[in-house]
Amino acid sequence: MKRLIVYFSWSNNTKNLVEEINKEFDFDTVRIEREIPYSTDYNTCAYVEAKEEWDKKIYPKIKENHIDFTKYDKILLFFPIWWYTFPMPIATFISELKQYAGEVYLFANSYTKDPQYMINVITNAKTINPNIVFKEGLFNKSTDEHIQFIKEIR
Ligand SMILES: Cc1cc2nc3c(=O)[nH]c(=O)nc-3n(C[C@H](O)[C@H](O)[C@H](O)COP(=O)(O)O)c2cc1C
Repeated sequence: MKRLIVYFSWSNNTKNLVEEINKEFDFDTVRIEREIPYSTDYNTCAYVEAKEEWDKKIYPKIKENHIDFTKYDKILLFFPIWWYTFPMPIATFISELKQYAGEVYLFANSYTKDPQYMINVITNAKTINPNIVFKEGLFNKSTDEHIQFIKEIR
């Protein structure tokens, strides 16, 4: 059973979380990056770039990651909540997961704890790629809770 962590992170909260969790597991890890990086200025990133992508459902190009996904049977996908759901580079990633037959667990974090976010994430993921089995991971939980949860995934 081989697992892969895939994550997107803009201000590195998700990156730090993934790194802490992965001290326990040492899974292969890949970071999703938008081919044209988002602005480092919050207002530009949030209210111009990310907002426009979400409103217009633009799937931004992401950097080639040279991963053979068929080697893995579980992908643990981590991301921040952007505009009540996942950032659009995650939409691109999900839409491009064509040859993958395993499961994808969704792990989100955000500034506020609105339970609707995880519902949006799962609904939107299934709409984008109905061929993938998406599973609910955790939302805004601690490193230890993630480690425990991941150990219990079968
Ligand atoms: C473009 C953008 C949109 C965001 N939208 C939301 C939101 O809708 N709800 C929320 O609670 N937090 C929102 N946030 C806050 C992030 O989800 C939160 O800070 C997260 O921990 C950032 O993760 P990162 O450091 O890995 O990028 C947003 C942040 C950005 C940059």
